[in-house]
Amino acid sequence: AAMTSGAARKRLDMNEYRERLEARLGKSREMMRVVLNKAKSDPKRVALAEGTNEKMIRAAYQMQEEGIAQPILIGNTKTILRKAEELGLDFDPTIANPRDGEWDHYADRLYELRQRKGITESEASELIRRDSNYFASIMVELGDADAMLTGLTHHYPAGLRPPLQVVGTAEDANYAAGVYMMTFKNRVVFCADTTVNLDPDEEILAEITKHTAKLARRFNIEPRAALLSYSNFGSVNNEGTAKPRDAVKLLQNDPEVDFPVDGEMQADTALVEDILEGTYDFAELDDPANVLIFPNLEAGNIGYKLLQRLGGAEAIGPMLVGMDKPVHVLQRGDEVKDIVNLAATAVVDAQEE
Ligand code: ACO
Repeated sequence: AAMTSGAARKRLDMNEYRERLEARLGKSREMMRVVLNKAKSDPKRVALAEGTNEKMIRAAYQMQEEGIAQPILIGNTKTILRKAEELGLDFDPTIANPRDGEWDHYADRLYELRQRKGITESEASELIRRDSNYFASIMVELGDADAMLTGLTHHYPAGLRPPLQVVGTAEDANYAAGVYMMTFKNRVVFCADTTVNLDPDEEILAEITKHTAKLARRFNIEPRAALLSYSNFGSVNNEGTAKPRDAVKLLQNDPEVDFPVDGEMQADTALVEDILEGTYDFAELDDPANVLIFPNLEAGNIGYKLLQRLGGAEAIGPMLVGMDKPVHVLQRGDEVKDIVNLAATAVVDAQEE
């Protein structure tokens, strides 16, 4: 009996130790560790459209060294190798050079996909040689890579349009959306849509909610969704407040939806337990929401940036949901750490394909 209680005590100590460590490192490290470990268990091929970019090369090195992904750098071979050497990175990267002349079938495929969308055969050939976002998109579409990352060097829409045109949405999706996972010391929230749909209607809001809830589960988080507004359950009635309210109706009547969802509600209602349990105790949410769906792109994009810069949250994203294959478009100026984190989530996504 003494042995058992000793062992039990030891286990307890270990658990306590882990909890304390977790509390110190915060939720973000814990979340990313789950994802990085999962990625390492089966590292997939990730096409990096901006292969000659120094941050991308550094990120590729780290992914390869740590076994998080098998990076494919897209761009001029000599340039990439020279930059890797200048950066002092001792590795043998996988490179795909669109001007190598062995990629005619990529141009053929792009032409096949887009010939009725106004692209001629010679334009397809030009795009494959000159716009690595098209090259990477076709690479993923044809299955030569499992996932794609881009966006460091151009405005967001320019990185997003080629994969939307070539890879497209998943079978069960009509709309892609950008999700940020915001991690605080003891809390995680998923914010959407932060990057794609300017003015989503109720159906789009409902779809975004489902994609985001699914993404939360990838991170082992049970989703509780709130559709945000400046109105609480009909306290203000107009076209703007009706949209999230109608989206909630669609979701609550959807047999596929197996998580609590409610709204429209103000952000503090969604996040403060006392308000949910007090004034709005009829709400479907008993605990604060961790999936926050914004009514439009202005609110979503501004909201997550305020959380990041003033709220001290660590932001992981934007993770594109609803796509047929894992494609992520980074923000200009993202750091190596952001690239590696996003690559890891793409790998985990690809593992489930
Ligand atoms: N979901 C899925 N597919 C879409 C979506 C969507 N939300 N929107 C457009 N598409 C598809 C279209 O169906 C079309 O496909 P098709 O050519 O096969 O028919 C293709 O994408 C291109 O559509 P266009 O109409 O040519 O492109 P559009 O000009 O509408 O651009 C875009 C789409 C880029 C998503 C646009 O809506 C946009 O610019 N959104 C805002 C992006 C932005 O500025 N975000 C904020 C900053 S990002 C940041 O802070 C990180």
